[in-house]
Amino acid sequence: MTDEISYDPYDYVLDADPHPMWKRMRDERPLYFNERFDFYAVSRYVDVRDMSVDWRTYSSHYGSVLELIDAGPEVIEQARNMLFEDPPMHDVHRSILARTFTPRRISSLETGIRDLCRSYLDEVSGQDTFDLVRVYGAKIPMMVIGMLLGIPEADREHVRELADVQVHRDEGQTDYPVDAQLKMVEYFRGLVALRRKEPADDLITDLVNADVDAGDGSTRKLEDQELLQYISLVAAAGNETVTNLMGWAGITLYRNPDQRQRLIDDPGLIPNAVEELLRYEAPSPIQARVVMRDVEVHGQTVPQGSKMALLTGSAGRDERQYPDPDRFDVTRKLDGHVSFGYGIHFCLGAALARLEGRVGLEELLARHPHWEVDEAGSEMVHTSTVRGWARMPVSVKG
Ligand code: HEM
Repeated sequence: MTDEISYDPYDYVLDADPHPMWKRMRDERPLYFNERFDFYAVSRYVDVRDMSVDWRTYSSHYGSVLELIDAGPEVIEQARNMLFEDPPMHDVHRSILARTFTPRRISSLETGIRDLCRSYLDEVSGQDTFDLVRVYGAKIPMMVIGMLLGIPEADREHVRELADVQVHRDEGQTDYPVDAQLKMVEYFRGLVALRRKEPADDLITDLVNADVDAGDGSTRKLEDQELLQYISLVAAAGNETVTNLMGWAGITLYRNPDQRQRLIDDPGLIPNAVEELLRYEAPSPIQARVVMRDVEVHGQTVPQGSKMALLTGSAGRDERQYPDPDRFDVTRKLDGHVSFGYGIHFCLGAALARLEGRVGLEELLARHPHWEVDEAGSEMVHTSTVRGWARMPVSVKG
């Protein structure tokens, strides 16, 4: 043990429980500087919220992932999508995608999501143990994105498997599974071509048909490359995050059986429990920015060009914002949280994520209200952008 305040986002041991360190940062070093990786970090709710809004000072233009900012302009250009943009381009691109994320389209998915959840639980019916993440939490989101985008049913399992390869890395594996990613892009290229010929009631067709400002007063259609960027963004942003929400639900409710009992007794509390889960364990706990001008933060000058990490995961536990923040309470009166981001990049998929979380929990609690987690057999996922679970054996006997 050391008295040093040291926050290394790549340290697996710390990542298992970063909360004590985040608390020390909030209390003792509200502006933290990590010399080794050369980044600043803020951990208090108010700072994370205010910096998220101030995109002129804290830009997303160089990416929102710490190590990607360091990877240089070429890599960032390849990865660029609206998450890595500031206004005015961000607003243009976001409004095009936002038009397709209509409340009608999202709520029309509820029955499909419920059927899917039931079918995954059916697959392990009669078993005393199964892996809650691999069998359930990790399977739902990509299949739901498949419904949203309009991936034909026969292809959904194949696409989900490709996504799975990208998400699950074995310990020690640091290279990115490029092959699976290329296969995925090729698959979506084919699907775009299909939807150009055979429109359907889905998000890809909406994007194919969208009229966008050509910049000269006329309108134009999106090109394949632009369409693929949107589709890849939705697939990437909506997959691992929801998987992690479900994983955190699995372990947090197991560790807090009194809270789980409240949900069993009153399923009407589940939507609030989803918000509380997001606050308590943010699936996407770090958003990175680049500082665009010298700026004073907590009495210190942060020079232009610095990297700034907004610790969303810490903001959710800030005692300045939430009374008794380390207590998980499904009845907590929440006046919002920043786990879906804040300001112009606020998560476009928030309504869908909430729907998946709610239905996923409703079905799990209805079928297996009293699961027990084998904590020693569980495994976390460690990437610099998301925090959650790769494996979670549970026992549902009795
Ligand atoms: C529990 C699940 C989820 C969490 C915790 C989450 C979290 C976030 C966060 C923190 C941001 C802001 C990033 C930043 O400020 O740099 C974001 C943006 C975004 N999310 Fe989510 N997300 C979730 C699910 C989804 C889903 C299901 C989708 C789509 C199907 C989605 C699509 C997006 C998109 C497109 C953006 C970019 C918005 C923009 O740049 O304007 N997310 N999300």
